[in-house]
Amino acid sequence: MTTKKRVAILISGRGSNMTALVEAARDLSYPAEIVGVFSNRADAPGLQYAWLAGIPTAVRSHKDFASREVFDAEIQSILDGWGAEIVCLAGFMRIFSTGFAQHWTSRMLNIHPSLLPLYRGLKPQQQALDAGATESGCTVHWVIPELDDGPTIIQRRVPVLAGDTAEALAARILIEEHKAYPEALRLVATGAAIFHA
Ligand code: GRF
Repeated sequence: MTTKKRVAILISGRGSNMTALVEAARDLSYPAEIVGVFSNRADAPGLQYAWLAGIPTAVRSHKDFASREVFDAEIQSILDGWGAEIVCLAGFMRIFSTGFAQHWTSRMLNIHPSLLPLYRGLKPQQQALDAGATESGCTVHWVIPELDDGPTIIQRRVPVLAGDTAEALAARILIEEHKAYPEALRLVATGAAIFHA
């Protein structure tokens, strides 16, 4: 049997993408195992799922650290303790120091609810509606120091329907996110997707 890649997931909230990854990794043939979930918020609902699933968790508030660099060094030591080889950001609402982002370049993934490079940043579903888009979707991409940028691994598309609210569009995109992220991690963990700057 080939060795599974050791994956840590970073969350700040609901954790539905984290859940999709954990559930995919239950399959014996999946090429990755989830070795830990980190949150910068103790009240992140996703933590409860991770606890119940028996996955090691760690919580540190960025507010308790003097600088972004010191906070990131703490995250790094937690990831090292888990032996993480790949990091998946799943609704993690913190920007990294350049050093941390560079350290994980080619080994860190993020998911964003738009077809990047369209609608970076906050409220991308509302941005799509405001732009009059007829389709949107989600992107799993490699993380580079620039926010919501970096080479695409997978995109999945959805239509924007007449009368859509941001919430309705977000829900339609989220269904695709839960398919895209496990598939992207599979590609990365098997080496089928490789980072090219
Ligand atoms: C998702 O829409 C993801 O694309 C974005 O933040 C949201 C997190 O949702 N980065 P969840 O915590 O995975 O449910």
